[in-house]
Amino acid sequence: MTFPHTRPRRLRTSAAIRRLVAEHRLSTSDLILPVFIREDLTEPAPIGSMPGVVQHTADSLRRAAVQAAELELGGIMLFGIPKRRDAVGSAALDPEGVLNVAIRNVRSEVGDDLVVMSDLCLDEFTDHGHCGVLDANGYVDNDATLEIYGHMAIAQAEAGVQVVAPSGMMDGGTGAVRQALESAGHTNTAVMAYAAKYASAFYGPFREAVDSQLSGDRRTYQMDASNRREALAEVRLDVEEGADIVIVKPAMSYLDILADVAAVSPVPVAAYQISGEYAMIEAAAANGWIDRRGAIMESLLGIKRAGADMVLTYWASEVASWLKES
Ligand code: PBG
Repeated sequence: MTFPHTRPRRLRTSAAIRRLVAEHRLSTSDLILPVFIREDLTEPAPIGSMPGVVQHTADSLRRAAVQAAELELGGIMLFGIPKRRDAVGSAALDPEGVLNVAIRNVRSEVGDDLVVMSDLCLDEFTDHGHCGVLDANGYVDNDATLEIYGHMAIAQAEAGVQVVAPSGMMDGGTGAVRQALESAGHTNTAVMAYAAKYASAFYGPFREAVDSQLSGDRRTYQMDASNRREALAEVRLDVEEGADIVIVKPAMSYLDILADVAAVSPVPVAAYQISGEYAMIEAAAANGWIDRRGAIMESLLGIKRAGADMVLTYWASEVASWLKES
């Protein structure tokens, strides 16, 4: 027996009624803008595999940050590309290093109007491109790396960052960073931990964005795409070690992971819509194969629906301007 009077379509008959019953919405404060700043650049440099995204100069970064604050984004996440690299990533600890200077500049520009965040990882700073230092066999040395992460966290906090984001997937990374921050008196600097970060082919364009020196891959420290349960173990560890926010990354191929994490996490959950996800939609749209704005909005809504409280996306400012105009 059917019930013809039961018609879900009633609630789809106009844009207004669809808006009324929408279970999930995007807002500008959900969105975090990742940005790249390259040392000694005189003009912003386009990134070929990420059309519309640039490596910033100090000046263009300032403008992007002010715009992000005006758009009331949730935050801005800074990635630095240093002029000189070495085996241990020394430029990451230098208060005059590109990332630490950028943090200072952005913070002095936006104050408390925008949450300033920084990537806490060595891959941009090492000449071998790995997220940590290497032992004699070329294996990423977990505990030696933790020590450097601690110093890096303090340098970033001293530069004025409000949230540090350890992204190297070292065991104990969140705890080491939390402990270092506490020991230096930076008790209010928050840790947004890349808790479930998978080794992904979709990071491809990011390698171009940061002029990565990496040959090979990160499979000995980032998670394996086969594993789902393990993400919960990683999240539990990061929360125990003091993570204030946890990240799942990438986003679109890992929505099941995001949903699992969102169901149990006692702290806010962020998803990172990464460079390859950006590039795919841009490339298809440039070919006229999909509707660009529709695909961007749908991808972000899908990530929110899966459980993200916030999304790192290279479209953050553009999407925020769409949300403001509608
Ligand atoms: C590591 C880091 C990476 C990304 C963010 N932080 C690269 C990697 O792990 O290989 C990728 C972001 C993206 O692809 O958009 N510091």
